[in-house]
Amino acid sequence: MTQAESIDEKDLKDGSLRFPDGFVWGTATAAYQIEGAVAEDGRTASIWDTFSHTPGKVLGGDTGDVAADHYHRHAADVALMAELGVTAYRFSTSWSRIIPSGSGPVNHKGIDFYSRLVDELLAHGIAPALTLYHWDLPQELQDDGGWTARSTAERFADYAGVVAAALGDRVGLWTTLNEPWCSAFLGYAAGVHAPGHTSGEEALCAVHHLLLGHGMATQVLRTTLPAGARIAITVNPAVARPATDSSADVAAARKVDGLQNRIWLDPLFGSGYPADVREFTAPISDWSYVRDGDLAVIATPIDLLGVNYYNPVVVRHYDGTGPRANADGHGDGAGDTWPGCSDVEFVDVPGRHTAMGWPVDASGLGELLARLWREYRTPMAITENGAAYEDDVAADGAIHDAERVRYLREHLAAVHGALTDGIDVRGYYLWSLLDNFEWAWGYSKRFGIVRVDFETQQRTPKDSGLFYSGVVRTNVLPPI
Ligand code: FCB
Repeated sequence: MTQAESIDEKDLKDGSLRFPDGFVWGTATAAYQIEGAVAEDGRTASIWDTFSHTPGKVLGGDTGDVAADHYHRHAADVALMAELGVTAYRFSTSWSRIIPSGSGPVNHKGIDFYSRLVDELLAHGIAPALTLYHWDLPQELQDDGGWTARSTAERFADYAGVVAAALGDRVGLWTTLNEPWCSAFLGYAAGVHAPGHTSGEEALCAVHHLLLGHGMATQVLRTTLPAGARIAITVNPAVARPATDSSADVAAARKVDGLQNRIWLDPLFGSGYPADVREFTAPISDWSYVRDGDLAVIATPIDLLGVNYYNPVVVRHYDGTGPRANADGHGDGAGDTWPGCSDVEFVDVPGRHTAMGWPVDASGLGELLARLWREYRTPMAITENGAAYEDDVAADGAIHDAERVRYLREHLAAVHGALTDGIDVRGYYLWSLLDNFEWAWGYSKRFGIVRVDFETQQRTPKDSGLFYSGVVRTNVLPPI
């Protein structure tokens, strides 16, 4: 029986949606967003420490110095996940905790922390899913050029080997990079993320070295990890819809699709960089950093594609008159996020929005999964999905975050729809377990299904946490 048949048969009469047996239910976090303890046990600064401590870069001057203090509270946080019934946990390791200089000596205290975390997870029946790079490059490597330097890709593979040797016996799912689009374009072109550069040329060079680092790390992981370990990369593909069906708007959407989707996926799946992207970025970069043999390394087979989805975007041709609309959801940077796309603008759409200003539209998730399955035919997992809202704490301490519950319900129904259509989606990791440091937005945006009081570090499951717990425990999305 196929996965689709197994859920069709079991769909319940009252409108509940049953997920296939073995579907993985997880939550997701990232090291810099939750750990704190930035100068403890040998950890050195990452680019996000430098960036957040640079005045004007993060809202309110917030930093990840303490964050959700997870470094000290990881055991309680794992116990909390177990209470919710979550059976998988996607977290990232901090490179500068494990190899403080970015290359060279390993800091065993750093390894020990993740080793304890993994043991704690396994003791609670929670499957660890480890991401090696969620944006926190060791500052020393940035000082040598960061992702514009080819050597960073090589150092990344070395780091992957160190972590795999230490934890490969206990971690079954390994992700190389999280959302490399953000590292390259928000970090090196827009300037809204660390390292805060504003060069389209650097961003395109970073694209290649991130992909090369992924490929090199995948090869090291494959030889270091035991048979059966799975290797993935997580991307954040755009669902870019043209504002009208005019050929100019369709061409604008195609450019965004090129820079956010095909520039990553085509080389990963063996077809190299898309010709149209090479062409429209030619005035910005000559792509001379692509060397013979690199594309073969980048196309090293993976086992799973991680997909992060929050919202679609609507794209229109910009003719150069009037202000250029920039509702791409990534804020205003000093630089242009989209190299080679000065004839493109992003328009806002009416309807519900989250506290990030992102439109709520679960149909984009279904559309995206169908497209990825059709074009790349690889097993997938939703490695992030969730929403920020302005949570109110009721007098009794409860958090009735009905809008977040509604968002989750709609998106889980979209995942179920994809499964019913026979698309191979293995699991769902909700972003996020905890309220945390939301990058350039600091602590002002709360994505958690568990509230964190950043004064006391008290954790309180929100209604969305209780809702998700019900889904996870029963494997069923209940009707409204
Ligand atoms: C994604 C990031 C994650 C979090 C969510 C809201 O782009 O991977 O760390 O910030 O957005």
